[in-house]
This record gives sequence, C-alpha cells and structure tokens, in this order.
Amino acid sequence: MSELSVKHLLGIKYLNKNDINLIFETADHFKEVINRSIKKVPSLRDVTIANVFFENSTRTKLSFELAEKRLSADVINFSAAQSSVKKGETLIDTVNNILSMKVDMVVMRHPNPGAGVFLSKHVNASIINAGDGAHEHPTQALLDSYSIREKLGEVAGKNVVIVGDILHSRVALSNILALKLQGANVKVCGPKTLIPKHIESLGVTVETDLRKALNWCDVANMLRVQNERMDISYFPTTREYTQQFGVNKALLESLDKEIVIMHPGPINRGVEITSDVADSNQSIILDQVENGVAVRMAVIYLLASKIK
Ligand code: CP
Repeated sequence: MSELSVKHLLGIKYLNKNDINLIFETADHFKEVINRSIKKVPSLRDVTIANVFFENSTRTKLSFELAEKRLSADVINFSAAQSSVKKGETLIDTVNNILSMKVDMVVMRHPNPGAGVFLSKHVNASIINAGDGAHEHPTQALLDSYSIREKLGEVAGKNVVIVGDILHSRVALSNILALKLQGANVKVCGPKTLIPKHIESLGVTVETDLRKALNWCDVANMLRVQNERMDISYFPTTREYTQQFGVNKALLESLDKEIVIMHPGPINRGVEITSDVADSNQSIILDQVENGVAVRMAVIYLLASKIK
C-alpha cells in the first residue's frame, strides 16, 4: 500500500493504522532530507498551498510553511487578523477567493470544531486541519507519535500519560486516537474539572494522582492550561494547579524509572513544567518540533499525490 486512504487530513479519526505507518515511513525519508546540506526536494514544484490561519500559531504555521518550501511547493499565507474577515467576509468566500488563484491545498487552523470538515464539503481542494478549536490537531498527534517511535523504537505497548487540560485540548484528543490506533496504553491525568466526562469510552483510563501516573508511564505528554478557552475557573489558583499537576526536577528524580517528557508547546514555564525539566535530557520537546517538519512534509507529499 503506497497511498493514504483519505483525500484530506481532517482528523486522526479518519485515518487507519496503515495510513499512520505510511506517513511515518515517508517522514523517515524526509527527516534524512532535512538533515542534508541541501534540504530541499523538487517533488511539489507544480503544487500551490495556502496556509489559512484564523487563530494564532508559532510552531504549526512555521513548520507547515517550511515543510511546503522544502518540497518546492508555491506557498501563500493568510492570517485572519490582517484580512477582509475583519470586514465580515465568510470562511467559504475567503477560501473560494484564495482557491480562484489556483490553489491545490489548504492548511487551515480555525477556532471552530469541524471547520475543516465543513470546508472540505464546500471547496475543491485538499484540506489539512492544523487545529480546529478544542477538537483535533492531527499533525501534532502524528509528530508526537513519530517522536515516541524515534525515541523508544515503537509506540505499540508503550505507556503514555497525557497530563493537564484534557477538556480544552485538541492535542489530547488527536493523541489519544493516534496512540490507541498504534496499540499504546493511554492514561489521562489532571484536575477532575479538566477531564471530559465519558473519556474512558476512548479506551483510556483516568488517574488524578500525578505521581502514580508518572510511575506508570514511559512517556508523559504535558499540556498547557488553555486559559483562552475557559470562561469559568476550573481550579482554585495556578499555584495549586502547579503543586498538584506540575512536573519539576525533584519529582522526576524521585520516580522509579527515567521517563520521557513531551510538550506540544507553547510552554507555560513554571506552570505545567519547570524550565529544568523542559530543558533536561529527558525532554524531547525540540525533537518534536524538528520531527514536525518531516511529518508535515510526509502528509503534504502523500495528499498531493492524490490530487495530481
Ligand atoms: N503545538 C502547537 O500547535 O503550537 P502553535 O499553537 O504554536 O502552532
């Protein structure tokens, strides 16, 4: 099998295990490319990609743009904050205007869950979801699993705990779906108020004692508290959150074994993890960022081969 089962990447829920394996094998090749002195391949010289961002981003936006340029695609960037969306233009009109300029693929981040699915039904281009509200962030989950595979050899059978604000996190949902598809064991850990009801239906277990969760896991993926998505208080104070659910060096060193620390970024240093943990040799946070370019090159390359 050498092609994806999907035309768009709208969420991990639309992928199967073969798709993930194919993306990782293709990313292995591109990781080698981006570490060569000439970091570019001519694969997508006739493809034009629009990065359409209705929400802020540092890593995802730069990583997609770099991935597209490394593949020799033509790239245009759209940021809602500096656009005619501010004058009332709709999502469909905005994207159709962009597509009139002969764009083949749209990478979109949007605050509304399902925005990518909606768009895919209304426009004739391949859509990649770069994060839709608190719903999915599929390329983040793919690069996270790819980084676990790189560090630990495989994802199957590994114990992974996702810690923090699970309720508002698209990274959590996409990670759970991707990890379970590959045969990992997954726990979530955080304040009860930040863990969605019925999350066990996704095949994960809930642990509210961080030390127990860390002693169980091979990998801890630490999430940021998403204050921008909260309209009420979910825990008494940030200090208390950090005391119960933050990881510091003393806690890491008191565990039964050495675990791998991940974080999708942006980090709130001193809240979910301290700087000495983020910058320690147990952390693979910057490897995740490097792998993000290779994984996104793989996703774009494989989807582009379906639109030609
Ligand atoms: N991990 C992630 O999505 O980061 P950005 O919001 O900076 O893109």
